[in-house]
Amino acid sequence: MEAGVPEHVAIIMDGNGRWAKRRGMPRTFGHKEGAKTVEKICRDADEIGIRYLTLYAFSTENWSRPEKEVSALMKLFLKYLDICYKNAMKEDMCCRIIGDKTGLSEELNESIRKLETDTADHKGLHLQLAINYGARDEITRLVKRVAEDAAKGTLSPDDIDEAFISGHLDTAGIPDPDLLIRTCGEQRISNYLLWQCAYTEFYYTDVAWPDFNREELVKAVEAYRTRDRRYGKV
Ligand code: IPE
Ligand code: IPE
Ligand code: MG
Repeated sequence: MEAGVPEHVAIIMDGNGRWAKRRGMPRTFGHKEGAKTVEKICRDADEIGIRYLTLYAFSTENWSRPEKEVSALMKLFLKYLDICYKNAMKEDMCCRIIGDKTGLSEELNESIRKLETDTADHKGLHLQLAINYGARDEITRLVKRVAEDAAKGTLSPDDIDEAFISGHLDTAGIPDPDLLIRTCGEQRISNYLLWQCAYTEFYYTDVAWPDFNREELVKAVEAYRTRDRRYGKV
């Protein structure tokens, strides 16, 4: 790996809708193009030397979008998971879905199980896709499990420290992101990886997700290299 390349990059893939609108196309067209960017960026990230890539695909808040858009996105995820499976087999990618899977259809859960099981031992890029993910929801789910175990008497307050929490979030076993990229101009975190991003460097670009490419990723990595990091890794 080249020196100074972030080990873990998280991306808020934003701007599919605006990208499509600018072209006089429906928002769902932007989502389809965005899915193609996901495929390409996984390869680019791997070649650049990034080990972990965590992509925000659907937030817990995104359910409030028009029903038609939500169902188009769910269909697209199903299709993308199939493509992702094939690529993961070819490229040795290890894939995991983070978020509340209980809120997803049985069909999606089936694809997710297959993808996660069959790629679990892969040694290439570690790809985390956040679907029905919200950091507040992730923390709430964890606190509920902890309360249940405490009530049963299998967990005591002394068992709980920061490592315990990190080790029981959806991202258990994955190092915290070094760099968080958000595309298409907004500069907010939108309920993404709140615990994990405590010392992550942020990078914003005006480029919309369907136009994001290797060159833009390299720009973000170059900007990251100039940062004087605190508490994170060097
Ligand atoms: C990001 O693009 C993709 C998802 C949230 C699913 P948007 O759909 O948020 O596109 P904009 O921000 O409206 O342009
Ligand atoms: C964040 O983008 C969620 C994803 C990229 C999946 P949004 O477009 O949904 O976020 P807000 O609504 O602008 O905060
Ligand atoms: Mg958006």
